[in-house]
Amino acid sequence: MSSPSFVVTGCAGFIGSHFCDHVLNVAGLNARVVGVDKMCYAALPENMQDAVDDRRFDFVREDISDHKAMRDLLKVLRPMAVFNFAAESHVDRSNQGGEEFVQSNVAGVQSIAEACKQLKDANRPITFVQIGTDEVYGSLESGSATTESGLNPNSLYSSTKASGDLVALSYFRTHEMDVRVTRCTNNYGPRQFPEKLVPVMVYKAMDDEALPIYGDGKQIRDWMHVTDHCRGIWAAYQRGRPGRVYHFAAGNEIDNLTIISTILEALGKPADLVAHVADRLGHDRRYSLDSSVSERELGWRPMVEFSSGLAETVEWYRDNHRMRDVFREVMSGEYARKNYDG
Ligand code: TYD
Repeated sequence: MSSPSFVVTGCAGFIGSHFCDHVLNVAGLNARVVGVDKMCYAALPENMQDAVDDRRFDFVREDISDHKAMRDLLKVLRPMAVFNFAAESHVDRSNQGGEEFVQSNVAGVQSIAEACKQLKDANRPITFVQIGTDEVYGSLESGSATTESGLNPNSLYSSTKASGDLVALSYFRTHEMDVRVTRCTNNYGPRQFPEKLVPVMVYKAMDDEALPIYGDGKQIRDWMHVTDHCRGIWAAYQRGRPGRVYHFAAGNEIDNLTIISTILEALGKPADLVAHVADRLGHDRRYSLDSSVSERELGWRPMVEFSSGLAETVEWYRDNHRMRDVFREVMSGEYARKNYDG
């Protein structure tokens, strides 16, 4: 029997690279993982280091929105499943416009779905797992979104992610394809691109620079360690059902000011580094998911305790010189000049 193979798109990004490591850990000795990434700005080759050292891993440089490339790749690989992590994911960038959000987060999903469909049409088993976000439900004053809640995205980022999820699910309804969508709360952990809250604040604090907190800093996110998220996605593949949406909530709803003061304390830096700056446009106040169905159906629950998880994460950034260099290049604008035309 040939080896089961799994395709992970966005494999050089933050969550995708952790997911490759997770699959290589749990999927058995004869499994094969093929990572796909177009290597745009948020993809770092070193994120794949552990996977590349494993002979069961292969890397393919492709853009998910290239229909022909995706079709050809899946025709040759005939994977059991495709996990789509490839996405433009930074709200601040989407607020500045950006057709790449529509291109990757919507058109890219359709391209993968079509490539999967050709396998389904040839009677090959194929599961398409689309990785989503809690932001598609918009800002919630109270309570938690269930999988039955209406979509209410506010930013271009969350609107394109909501659209991508719907595109993926349409292939379940129309073509009876095995499509599953997962949605998770904010992730933290090693390898997050240094434009997001945790790495930005760690590196600014290390450089004794002001920490720019948007608005009053009372916005609430539910912080999950990336490895808990990866376990959830794998559980949704292994034990989930076609056509379903699975939520993963951390149960750590914390406001931004608290996160930042925890980071400052961990680094031994003074609280007066915090600087309130103009709020993000349309800044969502709070996201929250109800993941009781995933806990019941998939037997999943988060395992990483927040304070130790965040402390280890802060140490990882503190000690990672390459990521610190990337952060400095991002801040100076050199990174954009070197890696893309922005
Ligand atoms: P972010 O990491 O961009 O994730 P998301 O917007 O997807 O939740 O931001 C997390 C929170 O931190 C969000 O409320 C915006 C806030 N934030 C700041 O206050 N200052 C910053 O410099 C950044 C990057 C984020």
